[in-house]
Amino acid sequence: MKLANQVAIVTGAGRNIGEDTSKLLASEGATVAVVDLDKARGEKVAADIVAAGGKAKAFVCDVGKEDDIKKCVADVVAAFGRLDILVNNAAISDNKNMFDITTEEWNRVLAITLTSPFIFSREAARAMIAAGNGGKIVNVSSTSGYYGRDRAVAYTAAKGGVVNLTKSLAIQLAPHKIRVNAVVPNKIGSPVGKEDFDPTRPVLNLVGRAGVPMDLARAVLFLVSDESEFIVAASLFVDGGCTALMPGNS
Ligand SMILES: NC(=O)c1ccc[n+]([C@@H]2O[C@H](COP(=O)([O-])OP(=O)(O)OC[C@H]3O[C@@H](n4cnc5c(N)ncnc54)[C@H](O)[C@@H]3O)[C@@H](O)[C@H]2O)c1
Repeated sequence: MKLANQVAIVTGAGRNIGEDTSKLLASEGATVAVVDLDKARGEKVAADIVAAGGKAKAFVCDVGKEDDIKKCVADVVAAFGRLDILVNNAAISDNKNMFDITTEEWNRVLAITLTSPFIFSREAARAMIAAGNGGKIVNVSSTSGYYGRDRAVAYTAAKGGVVNLTKSLAIQLAPHKIRVNAVVPNKIGSPVGKEDFDPTRPVLNLVGRAGVPMDLARAVLFLVSDESEFIVAASLFVDGGCTALMPGNS
C-alpha cells in the first residue's frame, strides 16, 4: 500500500478523471474525500470505494466559492483527523470564442478552473503545515494550457495559469515539505463537462488509442507517492505524446 494512513482530497471526483483517481488512491490505502458539486455523483463514487473495501466519504462543495472550500477542508480534517494529499481536479470549460463569451462566463471559468486550485491549495497547506507531516498537491492542467484554441478562451487562459501557479506553490510550500506538481492531460475519457465518451472523437497521438481516466489516475498516484519524492514543480504530460506532433509536418 503506497498511501496507507494518508488522507486525500480529490475535487471534481464525481466522474471521469476524478472518479478513477479517487478509486486508485483508495486502492493504495488512502482515505479519500470525494469532493463534488453533484451530491449524487460524489456519494456514488464514495459508496463504490467503500464497497470495494476502501475508505471514502463524499463532500458537497462548489469549488468556485471560497467559503465552500474553507468549510470543505475543515470538514475533511474534522472527519479524518489529518490531510496529506490534495488533487485539484475540478474544472469547467467555456467552449467559446472571445466574441461569444460574456464577462460573467469568463469569471466563472476562471473561478472554478484557476482560482479554486489556489484557494484549495492555500487552505489545505494551512492544515498540512499545522499537522507537521508535509504533503503532496497535484494540479490537473491541460494541453489547452499550452496552446491557443479557436473554441475556448477562458479555459485555455485558466489552464495556462494552473501551470505557473504550480511552480509558485511548489516554491512557496517546499520549506514545509509539501511537494506540488501538475499533470497535463489531453482528450481523456469524455470531454470536460460532458458525461458520454464519443468514440468518433479523433485520436491523434503516438499511442494510437484514446486516453482513459485511469491513464491520468496512475500519473497522479505516482506524483503523490514516495516514488516521485525528487519531482517538484513539474508538469507531467499524460497526452499519448500528442503535443510532440507538429501540425502539418511529418
Ligand atoms: N476530459 C479530458 O479530455 C480532459 C483533457 C484535458 C484536461 N482535463 C482536465 O481534467 C480534469 C477533469 O476533467 P474531466 O473531463 O474528468 O471532468 P468532468 O467534466 O467529466 O467532471 C468534472 C466533475 O467536476 C464536478 N464539478 C464541476 N464544477 C464543479 C464545482 N464548481 N465544484 C465542484 N465540483 C464541480 C462535476 O460535477 C464533475 O463531476 C479537469 O481539470 C479538466 O480540465 C480533462
